[in-house]
Amino acid sequence: VEKVKVSLGYDILVGRNLISRAGSLLKPLDAKKAFFISDSRLSSTTSKLASSLRKAGWETNGLQLPAREATKDFRKIFPIYSKLIQSGMDRHSVLIAVGGGVIGDLAGFVAGTYLRGIRWVGVPTTLLAQVDSSIGGKTGVNHPLGKNLIGVFHQPSLVLCDTDVLSSLSRRDVVSGVGEIVKYGLAFDKIFFTFLEESLDHLLELERIEKAVHISAKWKAQVVGKDPLETKGLRALLNFGHTLGHALEAATGYGYFRHGEAIVWGMRWAANLSTERGHLAEKDRSRIETLLTRLPVPEIPKQLTLQKLLSFTKHDKKIRDGKIGFVLLDKIGHAIVDRKVEKKHLAAAIS
Ligand SMILES: NC(=O)c1ccc[n+]([C@@H]2O[C@H](COP(=O)([O-])OP(=O)(O)OC[C@H]3O[C@@H](n4cnc5c(N)ncnc54)[C@H](O)[C@@H]3O)[C@@H](O)[C@H]2O)c1
Ligand SMILES: [Zn+2]
Repeated sequence: VEKVKVSLGYDILVGRNLISRAGSLLKPLDAKKAFFISDSRLSSTTSKLASSLRKAGWETNGLQLPAREATKDFRKIFPIYSKLIQSGMDRHSVLIAVGGGVIGDLAGFVAGTYLRGIRWVGVPTTLLAQVDSSIGGKTGVNHPLGKNLIGVFHQPSLVLCDTDVLSSLSRRDVVSGVGEIVKYGLAFDKIFFTFLEESLDHLLELERIEKAVHISAKWKAQVVGKDPLETKGLRALLNFGHTLGHALEAATGYGYFRHGEAIVWGMRWAANLSTERGHLAEKDRSRIETLLTRLPVPEIPKQLTLQKLLSFTKHDKKIRDGKIGFVLLDKIGHAIVDRKVEKKHLAAAIS
């Protein structure tokens, strides 16, 4: 088992067969009562986890929810608090999230707000959640007017990335996670990028995936450790490919693209934009393009115009004084922020 230490005071464990050892792995939390919020598709994983905890003397309760964006609707959260109260969850109890980003965002939010915040453990079950969303304490739910508009920073107390659970993921969810993994190579780590070039086909078959999850988690941990509340500009670099990727997700109505698939498009455009703005050499751009086009993601719908896509960047949370700070690359493995991107640059990069 690889242990990644987050300087905010918790560990991420990456390895195989972690779930059936939860009883001993959670022992340091020194708690005896847990409540599971889990993806209804993962009932056997949840049972395994719960039975390991019960053997170690825990009392467990739980709730299963479908992992769709609609589940993150703020108006649907209220009954969950009722369940926590009825189960006698107190300040010392632990909430456990078993699922992908949908369940993790929601459960983290509930943990962060119930009794002004109780501890939570992330058991991410999608590749995307293992390398990204379960780390860093961003939790939140959706408002009818927008995604993730209501949330709190609430760091988990432990994250268990058990790579065995990934074997049941759909192909698209694997690709989506690998897309997010490539982001770390591009934005932070050229050696990792080279590993990804060599291993991409293996990763898509979930071979060598532990190494990729471990290195990705390390980068995410390092960045959020230095900039926990996204105030120092560092954490923004994790958003490489995300300004346009988020716009693409929104413009196509959430659900058409998986998050990581949209980010693959966002990264291709951001690489083009980096060259268009004079930061990135053409040979690096084309190397990036070559890697990203090896990831099988859906095409952009023909009816989506540039105008429509760009209109969805307006609400980007990274906008300051009306200008978007674009995360671009000046070389493979090094991200920068450019505040002087104009519409003509975007048009050239995207077309
Ligand atoms: N908090 C953050 O920092 C952060 C970062 C990125 C994304 N997100 C959020 O994450 C969400 C997307 O996350 P996601 O891609 O993990 O989506 P998800 O949770 O919807 O999971 C994707 C699909 O995989 C299924 N699934 C989960 N684990 C499985 C397994 N082991 N085997 C088979 N199927 C499994 C789910 O049921 C679902 O159908 C979005 O809501 C997004 O806003 C949050
Ligand atoms: Zn992402």
